Amino acid sequence: MFTVITIDGPSGSGKGTIARRLAAHYGYHLLDSGSLYRLVALKAIELGLAEDAPELVEIARNLDCHFTKSGAILIDGKPASSELRTEQTGAVASKIAAREDVRAALLQRQRDFAVAPGLIADGRDMGTVVFPEASVKIFLDASAEERARRRYKQLIENGFDANLNSLINEIAARDDRDRNRAVAPLVPAEDAEVIDSSNLSVDEVEKIIRRRIDAIQQ
Ligand code: C5P
Repeated sequence: MFTVITIDGPSGSGKGTIARRLAAHYGYHLLDSGSLYRLVALKAIELGLAEDAPELVEIARNLDCHFTKSGAILIDGKPASSELRTEQTGAVASKIAAREDVRAALLQRQRDFAVAPGLIADGRDMGTVVFPEASVKIFLDASAEERARRRYKQLIENGFDANLNSLINEIAARDDRDRNRAVAPLVPAEDAEVIDSSNLSVDEVEKIIRRRIDAIQQ
């Protein structure tokens, strides 16, 4: 038996940080599903392929990637390039992620992460499409301004240049695409607990979610 916990939400809602903390706390595996779409985007950029190139399906199907316990990502056995985390890569990823064929190519490999003792899966459609039977589903949200501020801080801390105003616009455009696409749009699952983290610290959010997880494990 194993437990699957899904954490969905828009960019900058804090789900990555929370997912890593929960995985470390419970000793569970971690699936950062956004990085799969980002890795396909990086390959597309590297090979000069457009977002609608048919080759991207095979690329998605054959991605050789692995997540370490600390949250690092290995691609073809080597640490992923820091470009993976830029807003530009995120924008290309969200265009590619609107494709049904690419999503289908990534579906089973995401499900393969669900092994004992458990999985913390973060993304946009973890609770709605990939793990509809998950034991606990969280939808983590925050105001667009707060999310842009968090992304700004994260990018600066990781040594990237960033401009708060352009980030607000880029995040709004990406959200809009993710929420309004025809396939697996960003919406809370019907049985998800929605948490607005705009005025909550990471510790507070973690505490709320841990209470939920601990309750089902009694
Ligand atoms: O979470 P992250 O910002 O890394 O995701 C990058 C993009 O990948 C998102 O904007 C979204 O379009 C796409 N994505 C998705 N489904 C997921 C995870 C990410 O469509 N489960």
